[in-house]
Amino acid sequence: MEIRAVAVIGLGTMGAGIAEVFARAGLPVTGIEADPAALAAGLARITASLDKAVARGKLTQAERDAIAGRVTPGSGPADAAGADLVIEVIPEQLGLKRQIIAELDRSGRPDSIIATNTSSLSVTAIAAASAHPGRVVGMHFFNPAPVMRLVEVVTTVGTDPAVAAAVTELARRLGKTPVQVTDRAGFVANALLLPYLNHAARLLETGYATRADIDAAATEGIGLPMGPLALLDLIGLDTSLAVLDVLRHEFGGSRATPAPILRRLTDAGRTGRKGGGGFYDYPERDAPASADSSFSANADRPADPGTVTLIDPVAAAGPGDAARPDHSERAADLASLIAAAGISVTRNPSHPSDLAVVAIGPQGGVLGPATAAGRAADSVGLHLATPALAELVATPLTSPGALAAAQALVARLGLAVVRAPDRPGLLVGALLYPHLRDAITMVADGYASPADVDAAMTLGCGYPRGPMRMLADVGLGQAVDVLAAMHAGYGDPAFAPPPLLVECARAGIGLDGQPT
Ligand code: CAA
Repeated sequence: MEIRAVAVIGLGTMGAGIAEVFARAGLPVTGIEADPAALAAGLARITASLDKAVARGKLTQAERDAIAGRVTPGSGPADAAGADLVIEVIPEQLGLKRQIIAELDRSGRPDSIIATNTSSLSVTAIAAASAHPGRVVGMHFFNPAPVMRLVEVVTTVGTDPAVAAAVTELARRLGKTPVQVTDRAGFVANALLLPYLNHAARLLETGYATRADIDAAATEGIGLPMGPLALLDLIGLDTSLAVLDVLRHEFGGSRATPAPILRRLTDAGRTGRKGGGGFYDYPERDAPASADSSFSANADRPADPGTVTLIDPVAAAGPGDAARPDHSERAADLASLIAAAGISVTRNPSHPSDLAVVAIGPQGGVLGPATAAGRAADSVGLHLATPALAELVATPLTSPGALAAAQALVARLGLAVVRAPDRPGLLVGALLYPHLRDAITMVADGYASPADVDAAMTLGCGYPRGPMRMLADVGLGQAVDVLAAMHAGYGDPAFAPPPLLVECARAGIGLDGQPT
């Protein structure tokens, strides 16, 4: 099944990007939109993207013209008759998609491949609209399509293996990495990504953290290319909502239950970048305008925080407490860091000082040790999520003066900072560990291998390391601890450490069975 010519039905953000990918790979593409204005806008999207590449020196004018010249406009499924593969990229409505498939049956060649870029609907349900469901396959690209390297090739029980093989081969010709998956809600990448994004939206709407801090926790704390709220804007809140609705229907649970703010913003027309605004405004450029940050990479040398009392939660808690010896190492590391910055630091809780800092871990827990040390009013918690990012925790008893001194301290230490409430996971962990849990559960379900999970998230979502690699890096024991604390704190089964994780952590092996 050689694919020499293709057609793309629907030239919105994704459709235009996919058409560009085909044309760049040398394939003639028919770009189809029924509405003339939508067709013109779709073609303009393609040429604007190519012009940007010329302006950045990535394409010559001649290459740009050749690529643009491979795209021919079309106004309906009948214009796809010459294509060996037709991909539909129309809105996520099953009825509409089935209608297009049925029309392709009538007007197209019976041997052409019909692909769907659906990110939320069942490929099986879409394929059932064709009299030849064996030729229908999912070909799921990621936004921005010209950049993200993953293509999920989704097969149904009825997909002809030769069709799946041809589409897999085509994805390789496009310079993409195909991962073959079966038809399950969210496939691999969206089933992991969307619940994590949804959780971030919920943290914002419940006032857990600010918009800027949530996004900074993901980029600076986890190392992801975009913050979750900015990424929701890129994907589109309506699209995200559609994926979540399907995930909720198939799997249930709090992770997939859309945060009400997603629906509210969508209803208000704030669908993200494409709607001119979502969580952020996009007045002129694509970059989100941000003004609400407590996050900062502190460059100036601010006020002296005075002498700092460092409280070790283990020592403060006394015998019998659940704190572990490695928690004391955290306090020692923090004390050295503060001293190295030329700031006076004491480990004696009764020494007069302006600020007491509890060296917390990602499980949090400031008030207990602070109260035990008799310093509840002037205590904050500090956790180094990375060597460059501090999570700063004020309790309801922390005085404004102590908070200001703590902010001066992190600034003097040259750390970027996000504020987090004193809840298990703090902010970085609250985003990260349930996300890792979802990935572990997917592996435990047998839906995807650890390697597939990591490939999907690195190639589809630009993660520098996949979830399995992140899990190995933080340590399985720490993941169990934080999830157990989150589960105990919230009572939500979506946070319970999964049995596979607990077993592997106990046995000292990774999820792949290799020693850690
Ligand atoms: N079209 C074409 N090229 C683009 C582009 C676009 N829309 N946006 C960015 N690029 C290119 C740039 O030209 C640049 O190319 P060079 O390196 O060759 O110069 C490269 O991508 C990097 O771009 P920038 O330097 O401008 O910006 P960046 O480094 O911040 O990267 C990003 C931007 C690639 C979008 C990056 O932030 C990223 O990977 N984000 C994660 C995106 C993601 O998760 N996508 C998946 C969403 S889920 C989905 O789509 C599936 C679904 O069904 C919902």
